[in-house]
Formats: sequence, C-alpha cells, structure tokens
Amino acid sequence: MKKLLAILLTLALVFVMVAACGDNAANDDPNRPLTIGFSQIGSESDWRVGNTVSVSEAIEGAGWTLVFNDANQVQENQIRAIRDFITQGVDYIVFGPIVETGWDSVLQEVKDAGIPLVMIDRTIDMPNQEDYYVTWITNNFEHEGIAAGNWLIDYLTHTGRINDDINIVELQGTVGSGPQIQRLAGFHATVGAHSNLRITQSETGNFETEMGKTVMEAFLTKAAADGDPIDVVYAHNDGMALGAIQAIKEAGLTPGEDIIIIGIDAVALAFEAILAGDMNVTVECSPLMGPTVVDVIQQHVAGGTPPKTIFNNVRVFDETLYSVFPDRYLKAGDDVANRVY
Ligand code: AHR
Repeated sequence: MKKLLAILLTLALVFVMVAACGDNAANDDPNRPLTIGFSQIGSESDWRVGNTVSVSEAIEGAGWTLVFNDANQVQENQIRAIRDFITQGVDYIVFGPIVETGWDSVLQEVKDAGIPLVMIDRTIDMPNQEDYYVTWITNNFEHEGIAAGNWLIDYLTHTGRINDDINIVELQGTVGSGPQIQRLAGFHATVGAHSNLRITQSETGNFETEMGKTVMEAFLTKAAADGDPIDVVYAHNDGMALGAIQAIKEAGLTPGEDIIIIGIDAVALAFEAILAGDMNVTVECSPLMGPTVVDVIQQHVAGGTPPKTIFNNVRVFDETLYSVFPDRYLKAGDDVANRVY
C-alpha cells in the first residue's frame, strides 16, 4: 500500500513539474481573469499613441488587468519592464521591440518563466526567434518601402519626369529598428532600378516630428550649398514628413509642389496635409492591433494555436494617382473620416 502511495505521489509530482515547464497560461480556464504586461516602446509619434490606445483599450475591454510600461525609446527600460513583468507573474506579455537585436537574454528569461509572449509591431533578429513567441502581429515594413518607391515611379511617370535627374532625401526611423532597416531596403531596391533617381542625403530623424524638422533644415542647407536642389522627401513615418514640411515652408519653398513629400503610417495629420496639398502620399501602417492581440490571447488560453505571424495590408492614399491607377491607390479624401490615429 505504501509503495502504491509513493508511486502515485511521484506521478502527481511529475505531472505538476511537466505542467510548470510549459506555458503557464495555455490550456487554462479560458474564462479566468488575466493579467497582461504590455511593454511599449515610447510615445514618439501619433502612430505609437494610436497603438498604445488600441492595445490598452482592447485588453481592458476584455476584462483583463493591464500592467503598462512606456520605455521612453530606451531599450534598457524595455528589458527592465519585461523583467518586472516576470517578477510580478503576469499571465501574458505583449511586447513591441524598439530595435531588432539585444533581446536574447530577456526573452530566454520569459520563456524559462513559462509566460507566453505576444509580439507586436517591430521585428526582432535572434536565432530560433519563433520559439520565443506565440504570435507576431505586424505590418510588412519592406512592402511599405517598396510601395513608397513604386508610388514615386508612377508619379514621376504620370507627370512626365521619369527620365529627369531626381534628388531624393531620406528621413530614416530609429536606427536599428525593423521599420528603419526594412523601409530603407524596400525603397532603395525599388528606386535603385532607375539610375537617375538618386538618394543624395539620408539621416535618422528617430521617427520624431521635431527631429525630422531639424534634419530637414540641415538637408536644405547642404542642398543649397551644393547647388543640388531637393526634389523628393522620403520619410520613414508621417511625423517626420510633417516636420520636413514645416522646414520647407520656413525655407520659403512649397511642399507638395517644389518638393514631393512621401510618408508612411497614414495618420490623421498626414491626411490633412495631403488634402491641403502640402504632402503627396502616405503608405498605411496600421497601429490598430488591440483586437487581434485579444483574439490571439483568447485562442491561446483556450489551448488553441494562433497563427505564428499576422500581417496587416499595405494601402496607399493620395489625391492624384488614385484616379489613374484605381487598383493601386486610394483617394485620401474618401478615408479621412475613418482616421482614428
Ligand atoms: O514601428 C512602427 C513605426 O514606429 C511607425 O511607423 C512610427 O510612426 C512609429 O514610431
């Protein structure tokens, strides 16, 4: 009898240990209240604020407890926040990484703690990275860069300038971040097929409007000194494009006419700028990931397997080419009322 009891106790112990080694939350009571740690990059842009609101409201709307941290654009702050979530024993971690590298140790700690991770927005670059998260909800940054380049080629063709020498300046996002790396690569590869389309200056504006303005002022000064006027601004987000527009106006030039302005994100202020004629186009990158985050967690907590990667669509809005290429571009004026970020 004693022997049987010992065997049963051992089996029960093994069962508890095996359960503890897996995800803490999977195969759980799907209706139990959850605590979700959300590590956000910062609040550097309207896009980012829209993302924070979307994810936070969806988590709280599901009746779960939200533990939120804004890392103020500092990677070390994100690492510290994630470690705090582990200490607090949250049920899930939602995480948008500021840059692609430097996460190996902290994501191993999350995995060892058995806390399921839902990645949002930006990419990471580490070996076997798919083993560290349940799902990655994102936008295709390289396609956004390609779409921006294709729009420029279509626009120059439509306006009879495709064979002219065209000087492009580029406002890059945060150096080392997925969108900076991939929006640059997609755009360069696309316009690179035309040797007369030259990227003459390219610097980071850190995805911030003020910094975009400051860098654009320097671009204009150098272009004037070199006697090589700027024809196009390609900004990795709308916030920096809006900063560049201010700098161009202060330099006595007309944005949208003297200089073609291309942005990414499709924020409300970019739509206003397009309708005012100050900006030419924006490539949509939706931050509205909250409902998908909740859906993924609900599937996972009920024992399901959500898709490993979920991409949003890339849509391009302008006020010129939409009527020439209705299958490629959408009229900004038709969608302005739908802008919620
Ligand atoms: O990672 C998405 C990018 O980050 C958005 O394009 C930008 O506006 C934000 O700050």
